[in-house]
Amino acid sequence: MDLTRRPRRLRSTSAMRRLVAETELRPRNLILPMFVREGVSEPVGIKSMPGVVQHSRESLRKASAEAVTAGVGGLMLFGVPATRDAVGSGGVDPDGILNVALRDVRAEVGDSTVLMSDLCLDEFTDHGHCGVLDERGGVDNDATLRIYAQMGVAQAAAGAHLVGPSGMMDGQVGVIRHALDAAGHTDTGILAYTAKYSSAFYGPFREAVDSQLRGDRKTYQQDPANGREALRELALDLAEGADVVMVKPAMCYLDVLRTIADHSDVPVAAYQISGEYSMIEAAAANGWLERDRAIVETLTGIRRAGADMVLTYWATEVAGWLA
Ligand code: PBG
Repeated sequence: MDLTRRPRRLRSTSAMRRLVAETELRPRNLILPMFVREGVSEPVGIKSMPGVVQHSRESLRKASAEAVTAGVGGLMLFGVPATRDAVGSGGVDPDGILNVALRDVRAEVGDSTVLMSDLCLDEFTDHGHCGVLDERGGVDNDATLRIYAQMGVAQAAAGAHLVGPSGMMDGQVGVIRHALDAAGHTDTGILAYTAKYSSAFYGPFREAVDSQLRGDRKTYQQDPANGREALRELALDLAEGADVVMVKPAMCYLDVLRTIADHSDVPVAAYQISGEYSMIEAAAANGWLERDRAIVETLTGIRRAGADMVLTYWATEVAGWLA
């Protein structure tokens, strides 16, 4: 054999592979999404997401402290209210579960990690849509924006470092930015859900937040068939003042993630969503794949595709492995 070029040389020992690895996964790259449920004194398991719970206020504080100790880059909170209404009042109410939990966690962890909040109405509405409905039952973009503005201010006042508008309403980043600034929260940032697709893989999340949704979100979330419009969403979010942009879900949209990363001048996040989590947990529980390796491989792939940070339900556990 007259082979002078042998790529296998650089794979020959683990030290060699470590030396030439292009992509790093560090605890600070990981953000832990967490659910907090109003009115429970013990955490409640989520059947479709083995290992993930709806926290009580108490267990949320404890798990937040553990995540910080493990070195995660941030926490993203979702509220599960005890009661809901048509306009999602619980999201704006300073005593609503999400705002109360933000105050709890901020008191617990201070500035030692980055505290983020889901800024969306779906957990708080009795119809489960991400916005309020017009008289024909459609999601009313501009009426929703007025509520998002108030919600953003409430979350900033409660201690969020970054608010995360996830409802895919047109103009949401700009309206929230204006409202935050007008209320003096100029240091509170916006992690924009820039390219959020209408995905079947949100399935387990619906149980996690006890979603009331019937139907789908196709009139506001992006069509999985489309990549180009992610760039349009990116241009709008950047112009409106997004501090971080996100692609969601991650695994089916790595091409979109790469495109966004190549065009963004702000940091890029990706969300490894509930269905991505549950698929691997289910396969591993059946002995069909090596759980820990599969987890690290997915997170590495998401980083390689261009994500500076990854929201993942495994954040604390993986940060522990990497420490
Ligand atoms: C909407 C929201 C959803 C998720 C995060 N924010 C659900 C949806 O858009 O249907 C899904 C997260 C996951 O599946 O892990 N507020």
